[in-house]
Amino acid sequence: MSANRPAAVVVLAAGEGTRMKSKTPKVLHDIAGRSLVGHVVSAARELDPEHLVVVVGHASEQVEEHLGTHYAGTRTAYQAEQNGTGHAVRMALEELGPAWGSLQAGGSGAGTVVVVCGDTPLLSGETLTALASTHAADGNAVTVLTAEVPDSTGYGRIVRDAATGAVTAIVEHKDATEAERAIREINSGVFAFDGQLLADALGKVRTDNSQGEEYLTDVLGILREAGHRVGASVAGDHREILGINNRVQLAEARRLLNERLLERAMMAGVTVVDPSSVQVDVTVTFERDAVVHPGTQLLGATHIGEDAEVGPNTRLRNTTVGRGARVDNAVADDAVIGESASVGPYAYLRPGTKLGPKAKAGTYVEMKNATIGEGTKVPHLSYVGDATIGEYSNIGASSVFVNYDGEAKHHTTIGSHCKTGSDNMFVAPVTVGDGAYTAAGSVITKDVPPGSLAVARGQQRNIEGWVARKRPGSAAAQAAQAAAEVVEQEG
Ligand code: UD1
Ligand code: MG
Repeated sequence: MSANRPAAVVVLAAGEGTRMKSKTPKVLHDIAGRSLVGHVVSAARELDPEHLVVVVGHASEQVEEHLGTHYAGTRTAYQAEQNGTGHAVRMALEELGPAWGSLQAGGSGAGTVVVVCGDTPLLSGETLTALASTHAADGNAVTVLTAEVPDSTGYGRIVRDAATGAVTAIVEHKDATEAERAIREINSGVFAFDGQLLADALGKVRTDNSQGEEYLTDVLGILREAGHRVGASVAGDHREILGINNRVQLAEARRLLNERLLERAMMAGVTVVDPSSVQVDVTVTFERDAVVHPGTQLLGATHIGEDAEVGPNTRLRNTTVGRGARVDNAVADDAVIGESASVGPYAYLRPGTKLGPKAKAGTYVEMKNATIGEGTKVPHLSYVGDATIGEYSNIGASSVFVNYDGEAKHHTTIGSHCKTGSDNMFVAPVTVGDGAYTAAGSVITKDVPPGSLAVARGQQRNIEGWVARKRPGSAAAQAAQAAAEVVEQEG
């Protein structure tokens, strides 16, 4: 348990996010495989708070369902109308009700309430922890996380006393004078409060501002005027507190987070050939000496093993790539690629594909719900759906596992050390025994016993002289004539 364990973290996520111009509530937009609010909740959890309350309002059912599915254990407070960030925090404290009151009697840090906005996804748990420590160490009534930014447009400005440097107020962009707008130090929207003082001050917040809202930021001035300690902690990296209000900022946050994730991977021994063209989700994991080539997207619970190489131009979702495997120009969803296996170039592995060690899914090969044994190769132009193939078998080029009869899907089983011919159709349900061969062009509808050769195709018939009779004078007929003359002379 952290030394400064806060009583509560309140995440503000009730706003519509009008500037996103979206059907989806702002905080449910995704970057790096997690919603904006999900990133904030994940960082907040690192503080190990007694309570984690998310204030919901706009599209609350959607946001609540999302939190319930992905972030069990978070509580929600309902803010029917978005009357401002101060009002939102008031709703959270009301939701905590008596539980909140009982915490007041606790030990160090027990009465601390940390407030974060649901739209600052880059905020790290470390920064929140540092803020909580500063707050406790300095004995502040409130500590605000600030940052110096190159462009402060839209943010609340931090106004400091010219003589002492102490924070005197936060002025919202819309309410700021020209001089205040020139200030580059801004409010990140993250605060640590003494909970009791916060509750009292929220009762005094007014709405006489340009937006007619209860601003949480006004609590600072109120506490200061009442003689309490107001502190500020300046974030080391201003990019961490980027607030997302529109899709340009959404893309910027995604880029920054991606950079952070790839840097972490590279520092841990992963080669990323061209970081600017590679995208990873927060849930992706690597072993050292993995190599990621350009144009690659790694999503969800994807794992890249030691010495494995993925890309270029590859998209893997929830896919495990075994040690030393090679995945080139491929797409895979919910697949498992074994050690030293080879995929692509130009392969598509759909859910339920399991490639054994040293197995191969080659060029223009699609697989689905298929288990491919060790060393088995499907090298070219094939569809393998609903199948089990044993070890060290070879599937000829241009084969189709015919799994669908128009109503139901059926399974094909092929044994170990089989050599099936090119252009085979395996009409499921069907089984090919161990060590069996099949002839090229066969349509396999009946089980093939182990060790036999199955031939299932029409016999070839040559009708001699057909071209001369049916296509007289054509180029084909002339070529045939010339060939016949050569045979005659040589004979
Ligand atoms: C807010 C801050 C500003 C700061 C900026 C940082 C205030 C008054 N302003 O401005 O000082 O620089 O964040 O990104 O606090 N929300 C609610 N209920 C409401 C209003 C907002 O839950 O009634 C939530 C929103 O969903 C959002 C967060 O609070 O997640 C911030 O609201 P937003 O409208 O984005 O405030 P900003 O204008 O960005
Ligand atoms: Mg905002």
